[in-house]
Amino acid sequence: MTVLRGVVALDGPSGTGKTTVARKLAAELGARYLDTGAMYRLVTLAVLREGIDPRDTDAVAALARDVAISVGTSPEEPSVLLNGEDVAEEIRTEPVNRAVSVVSAVPRVRKILVVGQRAIIDQVLAADGGIVVEGRDIGTVVVPDAPLKVFLTASAEVRAARRSAQDSAAGRAVSAADTRASVERRDRLDSTRAASPLRVADDAVEFDTSELTVEEVIAALSELAGRRGMLN
Ligand code: DC
Repeated sequence: MTVLRGVVALDGPSGTGKTTVARKLAAELGARYLDTGAMYRLVTLAVLREGIDPRDTDAVAALARDVAISVGTSPEEPSVLLNGEDVAEEIRTEPVNRAVSVVSAVPRVRKILVVGQRAIIDQVLAADGGIVVEGRDIGTVVVPDAPLKVFLTASAEVRAARRSAQDSAAGRAVSAADTRASVERRDRLDSTRAASPLRVADDAVEFDTSELTVEEVIAALSELAGRRGMLN
């Protein structure tokens, strides 16, 4: 079986198919998977549960330091735990969607989470393994020396439609217009924040996934990983 070694950094705005692509690619290549967005969502959920105002940066940063969050690296079943409780569904709800861009713009929160992300990645690399890491700043900040950096994009229509399909599949009733507004608002905030904004790394390969199937994107990424000597 072909196995991935090293880090694939997968960045891009929401609704580009990042999560589906990252998990399937990792599963196919016997690699681990890290959803860094889930970590920002976990801190955001903790903020909301504690009744903290997401704009209170001191309180948010203090909570990010103290709260027990954990994300698993299995591409088949990535666990998402807050103080030991499985909150995989709750972190995808609208209140979290609305507040996560504010929480993830706090530099101290990012610093704490990036340390945690690097620890997880280093553990995989120490065992000579491979890991597909998805987020917004993986190629630019978290793993700037990743041997393969990919930036996924898609048109606003396609991204909103994908988010709607995910919401319906998960039984969340959100109108298409609200979904589109929510996706666009979050992308605007993520791209314009001062700390580690969403941007394409200079050496990233860009893929517009609007017209591509998940399988096509995965095939293209596997080929790139192979050409960079990451598969054996
Ligand atoms: O990928 P996602 O939609 O689950 O990410 C949720 C939010 O977390 C997103 O709006 C921006 C933020 N995020 C970030 O700032 N940096 C990352 N590496 C991953 C996510």
